[in-house]
Parts: sequence; structure tokens; C-alpha cells
Amino acid sequence: MVIKYLKVMKFFMILNALFITLFGHTVAQFDYCFGKDTERSQTRQFATKTAYQIIKGTNIDKQYLVPHCLPQKIWIFHRHGTRLPSRNTIEKATRLEKLRDAIVKNYRVLRTAPVTNALCQEDLIALQMWKWNSSITPDMEEYLTSQGYEDLRGTARHYQKLYPSVLTKEYNNTYYIFRHTDTQRTTESFKAFTDSLFGVNNGAVAEQIPEKDKLLRPYDYCEPWSVNNNENENSEIYKYKHSVLWNDTLTEISTRLGFQYTLESKDIELMYDMCRYEQAWQVDRTSVWCGAFTPSQVTVFEYGDDLRYYYKLGYGSDINAHLNCRIVQNMIEHLNSNALPNVQVYFAHSAGLQTLLTTLGINKDDRPLTANNYQSMSERKWKTSNIDPFAGNFVAVKYECNIEPIEKEKVIFFLNQNAVDLDWCHVGLCNWSEVLQRYEHIINTDCNSYYCPGVGALTVKPISFVIILSMSAIIYLINLI
Ligand SMILES: *[C@@H]1O[C@H](CO)[C@@H](O)[C@H](O)[C@H]1NC(C)=O
Ligand SMILES: *[C@@H]1O[C@H](CO)[C@@H](O)[C@H](O)[C@H]1NC(C)=O
Ligand SMILES: *[C@@H]1O[C@H](CO)[C@@H](O)[C@H](O)[C@H]1NC(C)=O
Ligand SMILES: *[C@@H]1O[C@H](CO)[C@@H](O)[C@H](O)[C@H]1NC(C)=O
Repeated sequence: MVIKYLKVMKFFMILNALFITLFGHTVAQFDYCFGKDTERSQTRQFATKTAYQIIKGTNIDKQYLVPHCLPQKIWIFHRHGTRLPSRNTIEKATRLEKLRDAIVKNYRVLRTAPVTNALCQEDLIALQMWKWNSSITPDMEEYLTSQGYEDLRGTARHYQKLYPSVLTKEYNNTYYIFRHTDTQRTTESFKAFTDSLFGVNNGAVAEQIPEKDKLLRPYDYCEPWSVNNNENENSEIYKYKHSVLWNDTLTEISTRLGFQYTLESKDIELMYDMCRYEQAWQVDRTSVWCGAFTPSQVTVFEYGDDLRYYYKLGYGSDINAHLNCRIVQNMIEHLNSNALPNVQVYFAHSAGLQTLLTTLGINKDDRPLTANNYQSMSERKWKTSNIDPFAGNFVAVKYECNIEPIEKEKVIFFLNQNAVDLDWCHVGLCNWSEVLQRYEHIINTDCNSYYCPGVGALTVKPISFVIILSMSAIIYLINLI
């Protein structure tokens, strides 16, 4: 009996593997129980809503010490920590409660749970008991959460431990320069970071924020960029969200939740967002909403996000590599000079971090991401879960070395605590002269004209579209950062 059962199991597993190979995602799957799963691999890849703790590297602990070299200067571009959702999402809390009730009704009243691959009892009960945290109100939109503070305290503590001679415990405003954008979440991130470095009541002050912050938010002041519509009918993300793969995924999820029809994309994305947020807010707990999705379904969503960011902030549009002209010049100048300050730290946003990487040529794939290469790009470098989680950070450390007669100056770039493996560097260690050469086109340019190439210089939409598109670009931006 048992043997027979095992044989049947094995047959289905082979069939399942076959389906995965054929269609790239699971079609026939065994009842999956999120509550019982100890791996919960679907909680590790939430694109820009991934928790820092989940993806941060551990390699820096080995990579920061360079024989015969002493760290001299540090430059950091830090995304804010874990935050609350946008007002728009907070206001949808009631919609989520409706979805919760509908799913429970499907299972308990209508009895429309699927025969295979249904939610396990545990996950269903957890979902039934889910409540929106009512102290999260729309006026707190995008505020840093307590985990968000921890994110920044953690990175400050870790980097200070590795580089005590550079990240000294005494603050003074000629040695340290801090700057953040004009938002609650980056201001509080700055506070968390400096409290951790210097202790509370340290008197650390941030630089004045100019009215037009072209250093940290250049994308807000570049119209050709904001009207560059990457989501119209010809865009890859549009095609992806109208593909068989996407449709099948929505259907699979709806069926699993007991619906006799396919839920609207925006409802599924809402549940998915709640899963991602809750998972990031409390890293050591699991969000019951994540139980609504299997690992392979999350992979489909993750690719959608990566695709969207690839064209909006990554290598998919030429303009994206121009935007951060100023911040790159700032980094190079800082590291190149022997004068104070020795440390510069910026607290900003997702869009800033991704476009910075794009300007520097980091995590660039050989082939572009498109609507139909989900499968073949599964090992892509452009994975925002890894490159741009909450509290994602890019750190450049300049070293002075005494062994080599020719190249005394070196630099290592770290992304989320892993040395960046540029092919012109040696396991992450780069000659400073090479850095100057590689980024010469930015170093020697006038950022005023370079950062935002005018209409005509790059492909943009006809002028008549501009007004309509600006509006959607604004809405898009709100969701983006
Ligand atoms: C609810 O949200 C508030 C505000 O973010 C937070 O302080 C509190 O810890 C949350 N409560 C629970 C049970 O998660
Ligand atoms: C700040 O610290 C640096 C390095 O310790 C020191 O050289 C400099 O004189 C200090 N500046 C002030 C204003 O205290
Ligand atoms: C996907 O689903 C939508 C709405 O259900 C439908 O209009 C569209 O034709 C489907 N596309 C594909 C490629 O199956
Ligand atoms: C750095 O420069 C030295 C001396 O010019 C050269 O031997 C070495 O190969 C360079 N390292 C890299 C990673 O390019």
C-alpha cells in the first residue's frame, strides 16, 4: 500500500518536473503548506520590498581586509530602511479584509477549494485570523518602521566594526558629511545610522537640502525621463503582464484560493504587497498572506518587477545611465582627495540606488530582460531583490597600499555587503587609476547637460503625449520610491 502510494507520488513528481521544464512553472503541484514549510523560499525575493536581513552578504567579513592596504576614506549611498506602504495601499486595507473573508467563505461555505494544491488548514486559519494593524493610518504613509531603524543601526554598526579607523566614534562636521532627502523615511534613516555610529545625543547634523535636490533625486527634475513611458502597449512589462505565463499564474492563485473565476491583477498584487510588507516589517515572523503564493508564483512576480525596473531605472533605457552624473562625480571627488571629509553618507531612495548602479555598469546582463525570456534569464544579474532591498546600500572604500610600487591607491565597491565583482577589478579590488579611466566620460562632463539629455537626444514620446503621461508618471513615481 505504502509502496504503491510512493510510486504514485514519484510519478506525479516526475510529471511535475516535466511540467516545470515545459512551462517554466508548476502546474500540477502537491498541497503546499506555508505554515509547515521551514524554508519558505518565496519570502526571499520580493524585489525592492525584500528585507535587508534576508539578502545582505556575509562576504564582506572576509573581503574588507586587504593585505598591505589601509582604508582611508568611505563613501556610502544608502536606501532608507523598511517603510510603511503608500497612502494608496494603506487605504486598501478594507479591500484586503474583503478578500480574506471571500477566501474563507470559499473554503468553508461555498466549498470551492481545489481538489489538489489547496491551502492547508493551518494557512487558512492563519488567514482567517489576519487583521490589518489599525494604528497604521494613511497620514503615516511611507514612514520608516521600527525594523527600518534596525536596518540602519545594523549597517552602521557593522561597517564601524569593520572600519573603526575610518568610521570613528567621534562626530565632527568636517570629518563626516551626511545628507538625506526631504522625506521622513530618509531623515529617520540618517538618525538611526548616526545614533548607531556615535551614540544618542551626538549632535550630528545633515547638510541642507536644496530646493531642487538634483544630487539625490535627479530623476525628479528630468522631464524626458519621467515622460519616457515604459509601460505602454509596446513595453516589455505590458507584454509580460499580458502573457500566458502571467495569466496562468493569476488563474492558479485564484483557483488555489477557491475562486471560480480569475481575480483581477490588482487584487492579487494587493495581497502580494501585504505579504511583502509584513514579511519585511517583522523578519522573524511570517506574513500569512505569503501563504497565498507558492515559490514559483513569487518568481513570476519578481521577474515582473525586475523587468519594470530594468526599463525605468536600469540598463533598459540609455537615459538611466545619465541621471546620476552628479552623485558619481561626488563619489570620485571624495575618494580622490586627501582632504577632509573622510566619510560621506547619503540617505535616499530605490530609484537613486538603481540608477547609480546603472551609471557604474554594475550587475549588467549580456542580454536585455524582455517579456518572453523569463526562463532563460533566471540567473540574471539584474535582480532587484539582491541589488535594491530595503536599506540597500552601496559602499566605496578607498585604500592606500604600500606593497605595490605602481598602484598605491585601490578601491573596493560593496553592494549590500558583498564586494562588487567588476571584470576590470581583481576579485573586487580595483586600481584607482582604472576607476578614473572607466568613468572618465562622467568625470569629465558637465552634469547640467549630461544628466538629462534633452528631447531628441534620446527616444521620447511625441509632445502631445507629454501631458497625459506626466500624470501617470507621477503616480508611477509615488509607487516607485
Ligand atoms: C502596528 O503598527 C505600529 C505602527 O507602525 C507599530 O508600532 C506596532 O508595533 C504594530 N503592531 C503590531 C502588532 O504589529
Ligand atoms: C575633526 O576631526 C578631524 C579628524 O580627527 C580633525 O583633523 C579635525 O581637526 C576635526 N575638526 C574639528 C572642527 O574639530
Ligand atoms: C490574459 O487574460 C486576459 C483577461 O482575462 C485576456 O483578455 C487575455 O487575452 C489573456 N492573454 C493571454 C495571452 O492569454
Ligand atoms: C593594477 O595595476 C597594476 C600595476 O599597473 C597591474 O599590475 C594590475 O594588473 C592592475 N590590477 C587590475 C585588477 O587591473
